[in-house]
Amino acid sequence: MLAIDMKDVWKTYKNGIQALKGLNLQVESGEIFSLLGPNGAGKTTTVKVMSCILKYDRGNVKVLGKELPDSCGEILREVGIMPQEFQGFTDLTVRENLEYFSKLYDKEVNIDSLIDTFELKKYENKKLRELSGGYKRRVGLASALAGDPKILFLDEPTVGLDPKARRSLWDIIKGLKEKGITVFLTTHYLDEAEKLSDTVVVIYDGRVVRRGKPGEIIDEFKKENLEDAYLELLKNLEGENNE
Ligand SMILES: Nc1ncnc2c1ncn2[C@@H]1O[C@H](COP(=O)(O)OP(=O)(O)O)[C@@H](O)[C@H]1O
Ligand SMILES: [Mg+2]
Repeated sequence: MLAIDMKDVWKTYKNGIQALKGLNLQVESGEIFSLLGPNGAGKTTTVKVMSCILKYDRGNVKVLGKELPDSCGEILREVGIMPQEFQGFTDLTVRENLEYFSKLYDKEVNIDSLIDTFELKKYENKKLRELSGGYKRRVGLASALAGDPKILFLDEPTVGLDPKARRSLWDIIKGLKEKGITVFLTTHYLDEAEKLSDTVVVIYDGRVVRRGKPGEIIDEFKKENLEDAYLELLKNLEGENNE
């Protein structure tokens, strides 16, 4: 079953920038899906459209089998979002933040078990402003899960974190998949896409340019790793764009 089905979606911002130019994306239920692309490719715009935050100009989007925008009320109850610049409520404690986010949904969520899952017990009574970047991001993830979502959107979840904090976040994300949650993440880190995802879609300038398993994209360019394959792909695309 498809968790997300996006067909021929176009989005132009008021300043005239065409952020999405006929985007097609299919995400299977239960997978970890990475949307990979350089800055400005349209990743955040895509997440905002899928999560009912931003209106699009034309195209069709279905989330959990329900059509946007008519079913956004229902859809919002089933999705969790960690925005690119998650801040939370900096003057509230970890526990207060989680309580707040869980109250936004009328579902019974066990805050203690969220605190356990994210190893936040030591910090539960600390204000968010006192936490390190890595722990703040954990609170972001936990907040996104406070409504017990079926789909989790993570927009560049590990930007700015040190390698250790990144790896621990990766482990947590893999654990979510085990629980049956569909994870849609965006990243411009190749190793992240490669290590985490079942499916990688590369976008560039508002269009899908590749789709496959991380290994298939590597094979296509006869490279050792995704990093080299991706750079080769971008080089080709930039060449085509300048012609
Ligand atoms: N609110 C906005 N108003 C105008 N232009 C925007 C806005 N948000 C993004 N853009 C533009 O749309 C394009 C895609 O941006 P974005 O979706 O944020 O890409 P990414 O997340 O891949 O870096 C970029 O050219 C960006 O400058
Ligand atoms: Mg972005």
